[in-house]
Amino acid sequence: MPMIRETIVSTTDDSGRVHLAPIGIIADNGGWVIAPFHPSTTLNNLRAVPFAAASFTDDVRIFAGCLTGRNQWPTTLCAEIPVPRLTGALAHAELAVTRITEDELRPRFHCRTLRTAAHAPFMGFNRAQSAVIEGAILVSRLSMLPREKVERELAYLETAVAKTASPAEEEAWTWLKQATALFYAEMET
Ligand SMILES: Cc1cc2nc3c(=O)[nH]c(=O)nc-3n(C[C@H](O)[C@H](O)[C@H](O)COP(=O)(O)O)c2cc1C
Repeated sequence: MPMIRETIVSTTDDSGRVHLAPIGIIADNGGWVIAPFHPSTTLNNLRAVPFAAASFTDDVRIFAGCLTGRNQWPTTLCAEIPVPRLTGALAHAELAVTRITEDELRPRFHCRTLRTAAHAPFMGFNRAQSAVIEGAILVSRLSMLPREKVERELAYLETAVAKTASPAEEEAWTWLKQATALFYAEMET
């Protein structure tokens, strides 16, 4: 299996409007593959402007926020691509699309890394951050996964949040729980 890094991918449309999305980028011979499912803004943007910034961040509020309608986070110009990165990134990679493998469900955008840069120290692992990332993946798939599985896995992940979270992870977790509750409440009406 290829290695995947969970990042915040920024793209722009051809008017320059920035879009941020949590995306697992797939290691590919020194470059990265971005594989957005149809339909998605990231996919449309990569066709319009074939560049992306992958921001590596430990602020998991951005993962949870992008999935719960909070997708305005500060961005900063990149050096070599016409797409900005997250201002708060610990590090980022500037990517250029070199080839597209078309697929009806999930096209693959093969990217060359033009530049990487580090901005702040990585301060070590935190279980609540991992739990928020896993929770965010569940929340991004609410319409596809059985409710029982989602609720069981969120309950398991919540123990790590309860034991190890800082206020940032607590806030991110609250957003995920609210979005989940709202989704199931709307299903029941
Ligand atoms: C950690 C994480 C990784 C994700 N990876 C992908 C991915 O590789 N491809 C994808 O289409 N969506 C992925 N998602 C879901 C997208 O972030 C979400 O569906 C998003 O809205 C993409 O659509 P958009 O470009 O229209 O915003 C991921 C979500 C999370 C939390």
